Amino acid sequence: MGHATLLIVDDEDLIRWSLKERLQSDGYDILEAATGASALEQFRDGVDLVLLDYRLPDTDGLSVLRELKRMDPDALVVLLTSLVSVETAVEAMKLGAFHFANKPFDVDEVAATVARALETTRLRREVRQLRENAARPYSLRAIVGESATMEDLRQMVAKVAASPASTVLLTGESGTGKDLVAKTVHYSSARAARPFMNITCSALPEHLLESELFGHERGAFTDARQQKRGLLESADGGTVFLDEIGEMVPALQAKLLRFLEEKSFKRVGGAADIRVDVRVVAATNRNLEEHVAKGGFRSDLYYRLNVLPIRLPALREHADDVPALANYFVDAFNTEFKKRIHGVSPAATTLLKDYGWPGNVRELRNVVERAMLLTEGDRLDVKDFGALTAGLTGGDPFELPAGGVDLEDLERRLVVQALRRSNGNQTKAGALLGLNRDQIRYRIEKFGLPVA
Ligand SMILES: Nc1ncnc2c1ncn2[C@@H]1O[C@H](COP(=O)(O)OP(=O)(O)OP(=O)(O)O)[C@@H](O)[C@H]1O
Ligand SMILES: [Mg+2]
Repeated sequence: MGHATLLIVDDEDLIRWSLKERLQSDGYDILEAATGASALEQFRDGVDLVLLDYRLPDTDGLSVLRELKRMDPDALVVLLTSLVSVETAVEAMKLGAFHFANKPFDVDEVAATVARALETTRLRREVRQLRENAARPYSLRAIVGESATMEDLRQMVAKVAASPASTVLLTGESGTGKDLVAKTVHYSSARAARPFMNITCSALPEHLLESELFGHERGAFTDARQQKRGLLESADGGTVFLDEIGEMVPALQAKLLRFLEEKSFKRVGGAADIRVDVRVVAATNRNLEEHVAKGGFRSDLYYRLNVLPIRLPALREHADDVPALANYFVDAFNTEFKKRIHGVSPAATTLLKDYGWPGNVRELRNVVERAMLLTEGDRLDVKDFGALTAGLTGGDPFELPAGGVDLEDLERRLVVQALRRSNGNQTKAGALLGLNRDQIRYRIEKFGLPVA
């Protein structure tokens, strides 16, 4: 680490001299102090690490340490000492001393400790910086929409984030913002500086999900060559987001419930209870109550999770927010695509507001993205949303016409089209409709269609 500044605090000239010689040759800038008062004075000049003797002429090392930490809670201090009592050692650690170097010390050892301490701090700062950057897009303001519904949602999110509650349940259709809210709950809470970890319960087979969550001991199963910490352990102090909780198998539901109640768990194949402080945010787009009624989800876990439910409304329930959301995405894609589109025309805004948004905010985002890529104007207009008017967006391509349909007639037409497209090949035509050969034949006969 180039040009870190070290402050050596020791009343013995010889010790200061030998440390200075060695550490200067490692490329550090060195300041020296023979007393506590002088140490505090020089510390103000910007010091990266302090090597602090415990016995000083005017005061003791602990008082100086306490004062340094008061001036800068991140101050990095290595205590140099001979013969220290356990109480003193414990006290120093509590005050945040990084390390002890026992006197008489080996200068190489001290140099190694200094390097390690600086590296640890650098990494810690880097992690903090990364977390701060990650947090920025997930403030409450990231939840766009001025309707009363969204205002209520933001207030609820703020309350839940500030509460000590250890579980939160997010429900809502696909694309309503459950991921967004989970992150906002974390990054607006006192846990923000700790990890946010995220796992989709449906993405892994049962035993992998279990070891991913709880970790495992070496040899717990065939592939467990090494001990592994689970998400709950890694996220200690932070938040674990369990997405698609409705897909979790019952055996794991039971283990999760035990963890939520006892705040502790065992690694797979392990005997020791591991205690962590983690908030669990669970999300689902299923109706969990129905899922419980049908026996697919444990009722006790459901009640445990449902203590603090946040329901995310479907976009059609707050269609007033569509213009604000559309403009928000226009701005976002302007930045991403380096474009300068000026919002959405009034006619197109009406179109967007009236569309039902079965895919919710995600569908709106996708529709705006597509329009931004294809438009030739400087503002999005009705023709840029052609896919919407044709009913061909990410939502249901078969929009039921206002006047309804004759299902039998529609079926006949689809069979005719499928046969035409496959040049009369019945197997291929059937495949287009998800029918086997017998099923398509039955329909050809039913509708009296000519066979090729
Ligand atoms: N109120 C909102 N303000 C701004 N962006 C939003 C809002 N709601 C959702 N979004 C955005 O819409 C997209 C979809 O949201 P998200 O992924 O959070 O949905 P989801 O509920 O988790 O869906 P799924 O159930 O399919 O996982 C994301 O890009 C998200 O940032
Ligand atoms: Mg999601």
